[in-house]
Order: sequence, then structure tokens, then C-alpha cells
Amino acid sequence: MVSESENPDDVGTHSGTPAPPLHVPVMADAVLAALAPAPGGRHIDATVGGGGHAERVLAATDPDGRLLGLDADGAAIARVRARLGARFGDRLRLRQANFGELATVAPAEGFDGVDGCLFDLGLSSDQLADRERGFGIRTGGPLDMRFDTSRGVPAAELLASLDVPELTALLRRYGEEPFAGRIARAVVDARRGAPIRTAEELAEVIARAAPGRAPGRRRVHPATRTFQALRIAVNEELAALEAGLAAAVDLLRPGGRLVVLSYHSLEDRIVKRFLRAERRGCTCLPEAPVCICGRRPRLRLVNPKGDVPSQAEIVANPRARSARLRAAERLAA
Ligand SMILES: C[S@@+](CC[C@H](N)C(=O)[O-])C[C@H]1O[C@@H](n2cnc3c(N)ncnc32)[C@H](O)[C@@H]1O
Repeated sequence: MVSESENPDDVGTHSGTPAPPLHVPVMADAVLAALAPAPGGRHIDATVGGGGHAERVLAATDPDGRLLGLDADGAAIARVRARLGARFGDRLRLRQANFGELATVAPAEGFDGVDGCLFDLGLSSDQLADRERGFGIRTGGPLDMRFDTSRGVPAAELLASLDVPELTALLRRYGEEPFAGRIARAVVDARRGAPIRTAEELAEVIARAAPGRAPGRRRVHPATRTFQALRIAVNEELAALEAGLAAAVDLLRPGGRLVVLSYHSLEDRIVKRFLRAERRGCTCLPEAPVCICGRRPRLRLVNPKGDVPSQAEIVANPRARSARLRAAERLAA
């Protein structure tokens, strides 16, 4: 996941060899320390993106470790294949898939009982810089926002179909937007004149409706939360995250590590609650005299409070600034 502060024009040049990804992997050393890959290890990168973390894991599992890299975005898979395919050969398996389907996709590729599973949520800098995708307020472009452009409904269509109460609810739920009602009314009013088709058009409507800063937020474009909300809705991100985490725990061997990088409070809340529930095991009501559910703890938390990037990393890579890393280890239960 990246912030909106980066320069969309700062794209790499092509010179015969595949251009390096724009995306700089976030908290890469901490991710490696938490995954603790060893030679011969087998890992799943559920969000392979630009392949930065995957490359590090493959290097750490030399000479014969294997990694399954998934991404919902076919363009990301193609870029990683072009960049890393020849170097790692059949040690790197890539599949365009949503991690919401991890429970079936990973075993079908021969990846279960794995040593580690990584989720690095949200979107990459390469996606944000892509003018065809409409992810970026400043990048602009047609308002699509789907990770997988072969499925689902583009953001422009979603935006055209919701009435004021529905849009207000969506902006509150997925954007925690304090001006949700005002923005929803402005969008529906603007739509009466002409459909909102591009990221620029939407950003302009919002800037007129909710100028200034959201309370407690500085240097943030007034459309930031709306863009986040639409992206989450279009990709059904939170449901995919819950399904992906549940599958990952099933796929880990005892001692295997689950590592998640999240970038906003909605994601982090889901991850934190999930890890706590798996650490606790028993789901009986606290007043029950004895456990009747029989569920045992399946995870041990490696860093109970989560880790955040250093100031030095935030300065070098501002898109890391909202990251939180949580890690857990699979127990034998
Ligand atoms: C922050 S980037 C990952 C960057 C990567 N760790 C690296 O080092 O380059 C997140 C990636 O996850 C993908 N993604 C987001 N939600 C997904 C989902 N539900 N299933 C599969 N991929 C998803 C996005 O398409 C994007 O490429």
C-alpha cells in the first residue's frame, strides 16, 4: 500500500532488461526477520506486487527454497515473471489469484504445510502510477480501481449506482470519512450534470464539497478517504483479508510464520482481532464454567503490539509511514 504523496511521473525507463518496479518493499528487514526463512524453506507471498519481498525470501532460502507468489493483478504477475522468472526458475511459482481464494489456490499449486505466509496489503506504487487504473488522486485516469480488471465492477460504475444514503454508508464504513454525507450529496448532485468518469473529476467534486483538512489530519488531500473507501469496496478487500488469514493459518506447518503488513486502521483491526482469536483458541463465553467449544490456540504472537517502520525508513520511503507489521507463529494444535 502506498500513500498519495509520491510523484506519479517518477517511472522507470525501459532499456531491454525489465524495468525495476517502482515499488520499494516496506519494512523488508523486519519482514525477513519475522518470516525467518531458512535454506530450502517453502513460502507463500499472497501479495507479490513488485516482487521485492519475494526476491528477498527466495535469496534467503537458497539454494532450493520455493515460493508461491499470488497477486490479483495480472500485470503485477507479468512484471514479476519478467524480472525474476529466469533467475529463480521453478523455485518461483506465480499465479494471478485473489488471496481470498488461498485455501484452494495454494494446495492446488502444491503449497501447504508451508514455512511462512506474507500479506503486504493494499496497492503498489506501480499500480498507483498507472494512469489506466484510476487509483491515484494525483495520477488521475479512468476511475477503475480494480486489482483484477477481469472481475467485478469499476469504481465509476459503483459510484454511478449508489444513492446518497448508500454512498454515505460506504464512505463511513470503508473510509471513516467525517464528511461522508456532504461528499455523497455532492457526488450525486454532480452526477446529474454528467457522469463522474475519472479520478480527477471525482477529486475535484470532493475538493469543492469538503475543502480543508479532515479533523486531526494534515497534508492529506480531502479525497483520500473517499478513494480508499471506493478501492476497498470495489475489491471487497476486507472480506478477502478475513478469508485469506483464515486460510493461511490452515496452510502453515507448526512453527511456520504468518506476517501481515497493514496500512490503515480497518485492515489492522481485522488482523489484530484475528490473531488474538487464534491465540486464544476457545470461543466460549467468559461466563461458561468449562470450555465446550474445544478450540485450542493455534497461534503464538511474535510481536504482540505490532512493529512500525523506523523514522529513517519513513524519510527514505514515505509510503511506509502508515505501515504496521504483525507476526505470529503456528502452534501444533
Ligand atoms: C503493497 S503491494 C505488495 C508489494 C510487494 N510486497 C513487494 O515487495 O513488491 C500489494 C499487492 O497486493 C495485491 N493485492 C491486493 N489485494 C489482493 C488480494 N485480495 N488478492 C491478491 N492480491 C492482492 C495488489 O494487487 C498489489 O500488487
